[in-house]
Amino acid sequence: MPPSPSIAVDLCGIPLRSPIMTAAGTAGTLDEMKEIIDPIHLGAIVTKSITRAERGGNPFPRITWTRAGMLNAIGLANPGIDRWENEIAPRMASVGAPVICSVAGGSPEDYAMLAGTMDRAGAIAIELNVSCPNVRSGTELGADPDSIRAVVTQTKNAVENAKLFVKLSPVTVGTPHSIVDLAQAAIEAGADSITLCNTVPAMGIDIKTRKPVLANITGGLSGPAIHPIVVRLVHMVYSTLGDRVPIIAAGGVTRWQDAAEFILAGATAVQIGAGLFADPRSPIKMNKGLDNWVRSQGYSNIRELVGQVVTD
Ligand SMILES: Cc1cc2nc3c(=O)[nH]c(=O)nc-3n(C[C@H](O)[C@H](O)[C@H](O)COP(=O)(O)O)c2cc1C
Repeated sequence: MPPSPSIAVDLCGIPLRSPIMTAAGTAGTLDEMKEIIDPIHLGAIVTKSITRAERGGNPFPRITWTRAGMLNAIGLANPGIDRWENEIAPRMASVGAPVICSVAGGSPEDYAMLAGTMDRAGAIAIELNVSCPNVRSGTELGADPDSIRAVVTQTKNAVENAKLFVKLSPVTVGTPHSIVDLAQAAIEAGADSITLCNTVPAMGIDIKTRKPVLANITGGLSGPAIHPIVVRLVHMVYSTLGDRVPIIAAGGVTRWQDAAEFILAGATAVQIGAGLFADPRSPIKMNKGLDNWVRSQGYSNIRELVGQVVTD
């Protein structure tokens, strides 16, 4: 059964059956999970971030669980844009859910080239990952409003139809710019949506061997530990910038209640990453939980609850 119409949302003109979508890099390059969960239950599928060249990623071990979530340093392992174009793009339209294509690069030119190629191949939306903590200089472009502006402006020029989403890092501490500055820069340059957010730079140590648990030494933390951090970021951006563009929230969603919190903080849609590893069919339960919640709050559609946290 498809999700109830009560949880259907509109994401900058893209109709989603549910606000729940997969998070980049956690559900394969396209539809690898379709045998486990029918895409009919998903609002959208976000692909692995694609780079210009094929990447094998970081050495193993590159993924592990901590008590509070998942620590990964995959390092953007992906087939590269040429193989994406030949092998993955032709299957995009028949997946059964809208596909949001994620891209990562090291310069505005990279993002423009990747997004331009995907746009010509029929991508409806492209998420610009300017916040990967697991590759050298992966977060640099996304930490500076001028760089974000350059990435979005050049990418916008290279794209005719696809919507552009900008995915930010949760960590702005130690930089002169707040998450609101970064989101505002992306919006002013023409971003259609903001995704909040990528993983939190983190590290674990095996106390027996005294070695880091990841071969890369550091990685990105995701899962329940980061959920309240991201709720605050979504609230900050929504309460400052309002609904100029929809916000997509990602961070520690494992139950429908987590998704509901994000909606109340100001998110229109919600991504699930680490939660899919624990239970790849969890979106089905979340859809049901959200449907019941919308009705119990006295509304007919979840859109009416976006940003409705009561703070006074
Ligand atoms: C194994 C793994 C791989 C990831 N790969 C990507 C990626 O390729 N591109 C990207 O933008 N984010 C990537 N992420 C970050 C997720 O998309 C998401 O932003 C983050 O994990 C927070 O959500 P979560 O707490 O639900 O996992 C990855 C996360 C994990 C756990």
